[in-house]
Amino acid sequence: MAGRAIGKGAWAAASVGAAWLLLGQAAQAASPTPPMGWNSWNHFAGKVDDATVRAQADAMVKSGLRDAGYRYINIDDTWEGARDAEGNIHPNAKFPDMKALADYVHAKGLKLGIYSSPGAKTCAGYEGSLGHEAQDAQTYAKWGIDYLKYDLCSLGPSMQAAGSLEKAQAIELAAYEKMGRALKATGRPIVYSLCQYGFYQPWRWGTSVGGELWRTTGDITDKFARMIQIAESQAGLARFQTPGHWNDPDMLEVGNGGMNAIEYRTHMSLWAILAAPLLAGNDLSAMSPETLAILSNRGVIAIDQDPLGKQGDRLRQEGPLELWVRPLAGGAKAVGLFNLSDLPANMEVSAAELSLPGAAAMHDVWADKDLGRLKTFHAVVPGHGVVLLRVARTGD
Ligand code: GAL
Repeated sequence: MAGRAIGKGAWAAASVGAAWLLLGQAAQAASPTPPMGWNSWNHFAGKVDDATVRAQADAMVKSGLRDAGYRYINIDDTWEGARDAEGNIHPNAKFPDMKALADYVHAKGLKLGIYSSPGAKTCAGYEGSLGHEAQDAQTYAKWGIDYLKYDLCSLGPSMQAAGSLEKAQAIELAAYEKMGRALKATGRPIVYSLCQYGFYQPWRWGTSVGGELWRTTGDITDKFARMIQIAESQAGLARFQTPGHWNDPDMLEVGNGGMNAIEYRTHMSLWAILAAPLLAGNDLSAMSPETLAILSNRGVIAIDQDPLGKQGDRLRQEGPLELWVRPLAGGAKAVGLFNLSDLPANMEVSAAELSLPGAAAMHDVWADKDLGRLKTFHAVVPGHGVVLLRVARTGD
């Protein structure tokens, strides 16, 4: 966690060298749409173990979430054990056999993700990958791992000790590039998720070190104010985003109990407009029908996974009333009318404001209701709530 002391956005954009750019150009889009799945941290934190992971994989299939598009079952921090005499990493007692676990997850048509740090220790104080990057990547590939979240953690202090911002930044980029190369060298497609809380604007260089996604903020919590604070900080980032490479405003909190259903729909809608990874962070084996309905809404998922692969942005803000718009394939748009105040509010959006000529065909996504061809849409949006529209050009 010490790495966070450096401060988000404190340093200017990377002066990325030619080598980084070359590596970036060679990179394939391993994740052509934002990754979808589940991650252990938000709900289980240090309690995650083999049985939990199997139960989540079972529940992902049984609940229908796999068929809705969720694929990755991602083990976060606290799986790590000791290294043997040859330096090979082993899981701790909570995970008796990682290869068998991967086989179990794969047999369900799912993929398995894991977690490490470029520092000596992970954020929870477990063994990191420093000095063992290539070896760890090979181990992950041998186990059948499909996704790595690589969390800055204890590399932070050595960066702070580097003496200058440029040197510290170079240490970070080199560390992320090293693991990026190590993963590629395994020959196994492993999605590479950079987790360094948005320091040094990773949206400018994440692709160049082999990343498919990168965290843009510090950690989410299961509170409406924190979730909104994170979403607001994403305004303006769409212009840096390219298809196949994703800004990651952190995992979902839907179903963890700290927000109500209206607020969780706002959370999902924002993440879909942001083309964010949809990594459920709740206990899939014990979720309410309401939580499942929010996580599995096909219209919202279709927006998140839209094949154009372009992130949306804020178009208008009047106090707590915000209009966010995401361009979709075929000239359609996802439009979110967000009311961040505590009380209901009248909101509207016109086809003209969306640069659509004449009337536009509007669909209320959460209500799954066609609204017909409209020049202007009006709604009373509940406090902390959203009306999410899919709007298509009609040409008249
Ligand atoms: C944090 C990270 C969290 C989680 C945690 C584990 O740095 O942002 O998402 O991975 O470490 O220790």
